Amino acid sequence: MRLLLTGAGGQLGRDLLDALSGTVPSGGLRGDRSTGRLGTRAPCDVVPAAHSELDVSDRDAVLTAVEGVRPDVIVHAGAWTAVDACEEDPDRAFAVNSYGTRNVAEAARRFGAHVVYVSTDYVFDGTNPRPYNEWDLPHPVSVYGRSKLGGEHELDPGATIVRTSWVCGAHGANMVKTVLRLASGDGALRFVADQHGSPTFTADLSGAVCTLATERLPGIFHVTNSGATTWHGLAAAVVALSGGDPGRVEPISTSELMPPRPAPRPANSVLDNTALRLTGIPLLPDWQDGLERLLRVLDEPSNAEVPAPERAVSKAAG
Ligand SMILES: NC(=O)c1ccc[n+]([C@@H]2O[C@H](COP(=O)([O-])OP(=O)(O)OC[C@H]3O[C@@H](n4cnc5c(N)ncnc54)[C@H](OP(=O)(O)O)[C@@H]3O)[C@@H](O)[C@H]2O)c1
Repeated sequence: MRLLLTGAGGQLGRDLLDALSGTVPSGGLRGDRSTGRLGTRAPCDVVPAAHSELDVSDRDAVLTAVEGVRPDVIVHAGAWTAVDACEEDPDRAFAVNSYGTRNVAEAARRFGAHVVYVSTDYVFDGTNPRPYNEWDLPHPVSVYGRSKLGGEHELDPGATIVRTSWVCGAHGANMVKTVLRLASGDGALRFVADQHGSPTFTADLSGAVCTLATERLPGIFHVTNSGATTWHGLAAAVVALSGGDPGRVEPISTSELMPPRPAPRPANSVLDNTALRLTGIPLLPDWQDGLERLLRVLDEPSNAEVPAPERAVSKAAG
């Protein structure tokens, strides 16, 4: 099976490239628990397209790339993910996240590829008193959330939509790395305790995306690590598991954040993985388990610099 991966240089993209190519990403689990139906899946021929090689907001470039690669499946992980910056530049957010996905959907339609689109918990407003399932109505409160929902709306009904949340991995910037950096200094560690979500680790998420992609399962799937916490709970766990004093981490409310963040966040964006469960695909491990494995990976000096994807879409398409 031939796959085209957008956003291949990103945090999730780097682990997805490993998982789709048949390699367990650093910190990933071997076997069924992390990778779903691994036994039924052969490694794929993956053509990675990093942002520098394919800008999804360029319609001609997307059509040309997909025509050249002729993938069976396009895993579309490329997105503008800077939630606060999206608030200041909605045109760019919609150009990449909504219009870019329109271009991917058009190319897929034209050349007969299945699309797997990675979406977000921020499509919800967070007012639900319980976790959101795939049939709850989205109502995003930020430009980023609206632009990602715009992308969902561009897809054909047969496409796969993977909504995930609070993504952390070995590559790229994320909350775990921020906490480790802050904890190495003497300053106060203050994190909000009134936003609830499920931290999700790319080493685990990429296995499930792989299963959904290779089986071309249609519809929306919420895919997160199991369990939920707050940003304060996540920060305290990072500090404790890396040998520090979790008591150093002070809980604050969103309204106490100084300066306030430009983009509103949902107070509750816990995603119930209902569709995954009903399909019989194993749920991802608990978030604490994923966190422990990520911290071990980050602790290895050899993982400080991991080479970028070798094969570029431009080469494969040319
Ligand atoms: N991070 C989270 O907490 C989170 C939560 C829920 C869902 N998601 C979704 O998960 C997916 C992967 O996110 P991530 O955490 O891996 O973020 P990421 O590290 O920012 O990865 C996104 C990648 O997309 C690339 N990109 C940006 N603009 C592009 C464009 N115009 N055309 C093609 N590629 C472009 C980025 O490249 P540059 O950096 O070079 O611009 C980056 O490599 C995204 O779809 C995101 O919406 C993320």
